[in-house]
Order: sequence, then structure tokens, then C-alpha cells
Amino acid sequence: MSGERPLRIRAVTEADLPHIVRLDADAFPHGPYPYFVLRQLLAAYADLVYVVDDGTDLYGYVLATSPNDAQSWVLSLAITPGLRGKGLGRQLMTKLLGLLRTKGAHSVRLSVEPRNDSAIALYRSLGFVPDPGGPRADYFGPGEDRLLMTLTL
Ligand SMILES: CC(C)(COP(=O)(O)OP(=O)(O)OC[C@H]1O[C@@H](n2cnc3c(N)ncnc32)[C@H](O)[C@@H]1OP(=O)(O)O)[C@@H](O)C(=O)NCCC(=O)NCCS
Repeated sequence: MSGERPLRIRAVTEADLPHIVRLDADAFPHGPYPYFVLRQLLAAYADLVYVVDDGTDLYGYVLATSPNDAQSWVLSLAITPGLRGKGLGRQLMTKLLGLLRTKGAHSVRLSVEPRNDSAIALYRSLGFVPDPGGPRADYFGPGEDRLLMTLTL
């Protein structure tokens, strides 16, 4: 866990992949992205991934898609359990949204587990609005409902 070393947000590198795999497994124990999916997402969207590091380890990451018809998707956001509630998730999202704006995104979409109150509170505070009609049943398969949210930039 990061102690004395200052944390910084930086662009991702290929060497970060195993650390991102670990962060993802910690953050989503019931359904992390498989290794091969993360590798391909990082290859496809390397310029749209930010990580939190202290020079020795990684403590968080965020990943979005390039704008398609001016719409991007945030596909993952995770902070290591011991460093949550310290503003890192907000910093990652704020930096990412600024980048998406410069790349021509006019809207940003994401899905979130409907009982994930802390993530939903973060997204609402950034201006994301839930789709009308509430969570989509079985969005990620049987029993895996998700709330879809949109931010207009
Ligand atoms: C969701 C997550 C990324 C938030 O990151 P974080 O660094 O802990 O969040 P921050 O400290 O930046 O807090 C940002 C906002 O989130 C909300 N929030 C954070 N922790 C919260 C908690 N325990 N309860 C309620 N709201 C909370 C608040 O709105 C907070 O704003 P505030 O500081 O002005 O009150 C983090 O909890 C996480 O990694 N969770 C597991 C993975 C996950 O659920 N990712 C999102 C998937 S869609």
C-alpha cells in the first residue's frame, strides 16, 4: 500500500497490464474482465486509460472508449480497496472526462451495478443522469441488472 511515495495519475503503459488485472479482480471479485479482454481493451484504447501509481505499484485505473458518433463509454473504474474514499476515483474520472472532451465526445455512457451506491453517487456528482425507467434487467446476463447513465459534455 502506498505510504510515503506521492501518488500521481499518468497514462497507461503495456507493463501496467498485470497490475490492472489484479486491480480489476480486487474491485470486481464476482466478474472481473478476463486477462485477454483487458489486454485487448488496453491495446485498442491505450490513449484513454489513466492509472494511479506511486512509482512502485498501481492503485487505480479508468478506461474509456474513443468517441464513436461523439459518444464514449467508460468501461471500467477501480481504486484499490485501501485507498477508497480519498478522492482518487473522482480525480481519475475528472481527468478522463476532460480528455474525452478534447477528443470530441459530446456524451459519455456507462453501466453500474444498481446497488453500487458509492459509484452511483460519484457519477451523479459528475453530472451523469440515470436512464429513465431504472436499471435494465439482465443487462449482463441472467440476474446481472445494470443502471445505465449518461453525461452530456
Ligand atoms: C467507485 C470507486 C471507483 C470510487 O472511488 P473512490 O476513490 O473511493 O471515490 P472518491 O473518494 O473519489 O469519492 C468520490 C465520490 O464518490 C462517492 N463516494 C465515495 N465513497 C463513498 C461511500 N463509501 N459512500 C457513498 N458515496 C461514496 C461520493 O459521492 C464521493 O464524493 P465526495 O468525496 O464529494 O463525497 C471505488 O469505490 C471503487 O473502486 N469501487 C469498486 C469498483 C467499482 O465499483 N467501480 C465502479 C464500477 S461502475
